[in-house]
Amino acid sequence: MDTIATAFFDHSEARRINTNAVISRALREQHPTSALVTVSIPNCNLLDYATGTGKASFWPLEQGKSDLLLTEYTPPPHRTEDGSIQDTALFAKYGYRWDGCDFLLYLLEGRDGSASYPQLRFAYLLTPQREKAEALVYAAGRWTSELHDEVWVFDSGYWQKSAQLFASIRSASWDDVILDAKMKQDLIDDHMSFFHSKEQYRKFKVPWKRGVIYYGPPGNGKTISIKAMMHALYSLKDPIPSLYVRSLSSAAGPEYAIKQIFERARQTAPCYLIFEDLDSLVSDRVRSYFLNEVDGLKANDGIFMVGSTNHLDQLDPGIAKRPSRFDRKYLFSDPNKEERIAYCHFWQRKLRDNKDVAFPDILCDAIAGITDKFSFAFIQEAFVAALLAIARHRREDRVPCNDESYVSVGDSGSQREAFVEDLADDWVDVSAVVDLDKYILWREIKKQIKSLRKEFDPDASPP
Ligand SMILES: Nc1ncnc2c1ncn2[C@@H]1O[C@H](COP(=O)(O)OP(=O)(O)OP(=O)(O)O)[C@@H](O)[C@H]1O
Ligand SMILES: [Mg+2]
Repeated sequence: MDTIATAFFDHSEARRINTNAVISRALREQHPTSALVTVSIPNCNLLDYATGTGKASFWPLEQGKSDLLLTEYTPPPHRTEDGSIQDTALFAKYGYRWDGCDFLLYLLEGRDGSASYPQLRFAYLLTPQREKAEALVYAAGRWTSELHDEVWVFDSGYWQKSAQLFASIRSASWDDVILDAKMKQDLIDDHMSFFHSKEQYRKFKVPWKRGVIYYGPPGNGKTISIKAMMHALYSLKDPIPSLYVRSLSSAAGPEYAIKQIFERARQTAPCYLIFEDLDSLVSDRVRSYFLNEVDGLKANDGIFMVGSTNHLDQLDPGIAKRPSRFDRKYLFSDPNKEERIAYCHFWQRKLRDNKDVAFPDILCDAIAGITDKFSFAFIQEAFVAALLAIARHRREDRVPCNDESYVSVGDSGSQREAFVEDLADDWVDVSAVVDLDKYILWREIKKQIKSLRKEFDPDASPP
């Protein structure tokens, strides 16, 4: 060995611990005629590639004799579901077959130093054919870097794939988001036209990047709109992936986190890059670093950024007031009466099959009439709490199983309701014309609305 190599290995094996160096040397001694290819597992996961694609197979060798496995319980995403047991190889030896070629595969953890971060895990492939091993690393590495029914989530300092978030956005739909019709259409067009307009941006000689801010008081649809957008973008013929930033905290500091975030976004573009709670993510400490990455000495082509915030006023003007970083702002305000009625109709559709709770149209108008200044989330809470109370009364048999008064309204009742609904269209106070108290939903929701109003508006007089 030449003296430089000797110096390096003396250093690596003695004064500095380097598991990789020790293992590589041992493998070369034991398999002198094989080529050795070493990869980092998070970058190229050979076992997941085999299980995920079925294009390769593997089997344990000498199991039980020298394996060192860490068996961990992974809790379920929700308490009511089942958790699972997972083995992580701290040391394991496998036979591996891919594309007609057999490999010897060692997996091990190289936690060098006291608290190595992120954790180091290596795979060592041995085969007489080096090109074959490199081709396998290329295929498995590529597969590892792609998403498979997952979303990239940045949390605790690194990007992770989240199948759970992907599942949750699958059920998100623009149909369930109640917004002013024009704003909703503008919002959807804004996103969609960006991803279809690469050529236009090129013609105008402006960088193909865009940013929008969703702002407004809590509980008015910023997050569900982001999720509905993620779903719509995934459903395109050429799906647009989403990158979701949860926090900038990282052992290596938030500046390093921001660098990682934009590196991945550039690599994944065209993509949808999401910063929830922008004001708390981008602190004074990292603001200029963040802006440098957004302005992009490196090209940010194809990146559509969305940031959400409750406090537009607390955002740095460099973020909030400078187009070409975040170009447009969309206000998600508390719903007006028309939107509240639409939201009540949304609940009416949800409860369509519930035979126990009568929910005629006039209740939509009436509930909308007493929820002035309520956010959608507060109206939702009023519905949920009222329905739970009704279910409890039913269980305790305190009310008959049908809303009797509603059932007995009969023909003349229907005419009267039609009349009242006409009035409601004209914004007349329907409760003055019809005895809404015969509806259990109205009686319960009124109580909930009254107590919820006290929570956010203690000085308000009852409606
Ligand atoms: N515009 C809306 N249309 C339909 N439902 C809504 C709407 N806004 C809020 N909701 C209901 O309220 C819940 C909370 O909404 P969401 O998480 O989108 O609020 P947000 O604006 O992101 O609030 P925050 O600022 O606190 O993050 C949603 O899960 C949904 O059930
Ligand atoms: Mg939110």
